[in-house]
Amino acid sequence: MNNNENTPLLEVKNLKQYFDINVGVFKSKPLKAVDDVSFYINKKETLGLVGESGCGKTTVGRTILNLYKPTAGEIWYNGKQIKTKADINEFRKKATMVFQDPYSSLNPRMTVADIIGEPLDVHNLYSTKEERRERILELMDYVGLNSEHASRYAHEFSGGQRQRIGIARALAVNPEFIVCDEPVSALDVSIQAQVINMFDELQDKLGLTYLFIAHNLLVVRHISDRIAVMYLGKIVELADAEEIYSRPLHPYSKALMSAVPVPDPQVARANKRIMLSGDIPSPLNAPSGCPFRTRCPHATEQCAMETPEFKEISKGHFVACHNIDKIN
Ligand SMILES: Nc1ncnc2c1ncn2[C@@H]1O[C@H](COP(=O)(O)OP(=O)(O)O)[C@@H](O)[C@H]1O
Ligand SMILES: [Mg+2]
Repeated sequence: MNNNENTPLLEVKNLKQYFDINVGVFKSKPLKAVDDVSFYINKKETLGLVGESGCGKTTVGRTILNLYKPTAGEIWYNGKQIKTKADINEFRKKATMVFQDPYSSLNPRMTVADIIGEPLDVHNLYSTKEERRERILELMDYVGLNSEHASRYAHEFSGGQRQRIGIARALAVNPEFIVCDEPVSALDVSIQAQVINMFDELQDKLGLTYLFIAHNLLVVRHISDRIAVMYLGKIVELADAEEIYSRPLHPYSKALMSAVPVPDPQVARANKRIMLSGDIPSPLNAPSGCPFRTRCPHATEQCAMETPEFKEISKGHFVACHNIDKIN
């Protein structure tokens, strides 16, 4: 096993997740929710994963955690491929997920202490009742919940506080890696920043590694070290967060970026808003060649014929587009 400092904590190679969908009596068709996705995440790093609703972000997260069996591809953790049932069980002790909707993911009729204590019970993570109680209070403290809240019910809390309860619960198993699946999308804009800052602080304090999913680029900007942009089941661009903001190369990333409000009016004037025509195609009927070509202002014949390779254009900056040189 190779787990020196330079080995990524998580590596995903050519991951595919196809769902069989019935399209008639006795007829099914693969819905390519994730189609040949590769990336790595270093220890204590945050990789942001952004893209419009339905592009496959949640499916990437769930497939990594083996909540769905991959259709194809490899998942490596700490230099070791996760293959057997035993590997999966071992991995699940170290990896967990925080969900998008803090309203439906917590049982409203359980107390905060029971919600946070449940994974401790399931995984036998204490030897005395007192130890259990102490650990619950410690986890509540991590996420800024007052100890007096322990005996109250989830339904008594606001969305932001519920998300804190959900995070404390995720932390109960001492994870190393967390898939954060749009953890602030359901929250008021006014409290989104607080919750994101909390993720940031917890990362420093506990040495966590995140895959941080969002549909809004602004949300991931400050928390991400690198950002991957996803479109119709594929990653179309991946680079350092600042690089993606200052020099997006893929036409889809450019369009997403142009929709982000810029505080500086001069910069804002220079960055004309790029409007995309049409809707995202269904992953059941994805276009041939480049998935983005039906909405791309630069598409050529080649784009319909060949799927562009996900290539490293400069150090650490990957793009899948046939016309990178012409349009940049
Ligand atoms: N369990 C499932 N069975 C069938 N189709 C699914 C399933 N989960 C997701 N999908 C489909 O896969 C695509 C990607 O979904 P999802 O990963 O939830 O996207 P995102 O999180 O980016 O909004 C969508 O077309 C969705 O309808
Ligand atoms: Mg999702």
